[in-house]
Amino acid sequence: MKSKAIYYSLFVFSFSLFLLASCSDKNNDDGFIEDNIRFAAQQTEYMLSHVCTTDTFINPRTLNDDGSIRGIGIYDWCSGFFAGTLWQLYELTGDEKWHSFAERYTTALAPVQFYTDNHDVGFMMGDSYGQGRRILAGDTGFGYGPQGSDFYKEVLINTARSLCKRYVPEAGVIRSWGRIGGQQVSVIIDNMMNLELLFEASRLSGDDSFRQIAITHADNTLKNHFRPDGSCYHVLEYDAATGRVLSKHTNQGYADESAWSRGQSWAVYGFTLMYRYTRDKKYLDQALRTFAFLRDHPDRTDDLVPWWDMDAPAGTGSKEEERDASAAAILSSALYELATYVSPRQRRELRTYADRLLTALASPAYRAEVGTNGGFLLRHSVGSKPHHAEVDVPLCYADYYFLEALIRKMRL
Ligand code: GLY
Repeated sequence: MKSKAIYYSLFVFSFSLFLLASCSDKNNDDGFIEDNIRFAAQQTEYMLSHVCTTDTFINPRTLNDDGSIRGIGIYDWCSGFFAGTLWQLYELTGDEKWHSFAERYTTALAPVQFYTDNHDVGFMMGDSYGQGRRILAGDTGFGYGPQGSDFYKEVLINTARSLCKRYVPEAGVIRSWGRIGGQQVSVIIDNMMNLELLFEASRLSGDDSFRQIAITHADNTLKNHFRPDGSCYHVLEYDAATGRVLSKHTNQGYADESAWSRGQSWAVYGFTLMYRYTRDKKYLDQALRTFAFLRDHPDRTDDLVPWWDMDAPAGTGSKEEERDASAAAILSSALYELATYVSPRQRRELRTYADRLLTALASPAYRAEVGTNGGFLLRHSVGSKPHHAEVDVPLCYADYYFLEALIRKMRL
């Protein structure tokens, strides 16, 4: 009798704790999302008052040393992110004013659809035209929105054609940098992010060749770019005639054998989207392996926002090295999607990790005060430390993926 009473009390106690935890989670989440939407809208209004006025039209990338906004041209690899941020604000608020600003920044990029000088057109056009198309259609899924015919769709298909001009069939990869026809083919892990454009172009056009190129590129990246511990190299050089791997090295990381953090985030995101379009488990496994590498790294930071390179020596012990908010934002967004493809137990782990990243980014340690930081949302990203470029600064892509992660969290 006595033990029955104890069991009953324990049950009531645990159930109350469970209810309390669910309620407080829900309340925190609701407040968290609303607060960040409000902040992003106010801060981007402040940004627009500097970059988009009757006599100014600047596409913002970062801040210069003197605190002024560094604007970029349409062929910069970052040219689509601000348009994407504006589209996402439109999705988050429903306010038409964001729609018209988003269209202005997006349509300015139209010539990029025929650009063949680098692989970044997937970023440039996917995050502007692709996001715009999805949001205008009211589509809450992943990808660029429904079938149908419109100007945005034509632009995206043309962009995929341009990207495929950089495909080297003998090596089975898309050339990231360098001129078309060169004997050496550089491929960076970031290139995985451009594959979404190819899958979407196949879906929108019915031409399967874009999809086949994406799969071949991903398979070769899977085979050659990763180390046994799940981390990836930044740059691989292939021989254009034979497809032989000539070297593995870094451009933006600390060392050839180190793990450049944003590269790891691109890998998790890129192989997650490969799984989205193919349901081939080997891609899911790779995304999870690279995530596990970051999760289990002995030098992981306390707030999970990674060092700019996981293996930069000053990141160890008590010495502080710069962290990269952009790598955290990309990873957080990727994990919210990855969490939809795994078992309930793993889902909880991935979502908790993504939540922790997003919570850190939204804290005063990274999130700017309204009216400061040139109007960028986040502080403390690193573009390329080895080049002494954009170290510990705001970056337009950190903001873009921060909002994408917020939207994904909200939908979940
Ligand atoms: N895709 C270039 C970078 O991540 O810096």
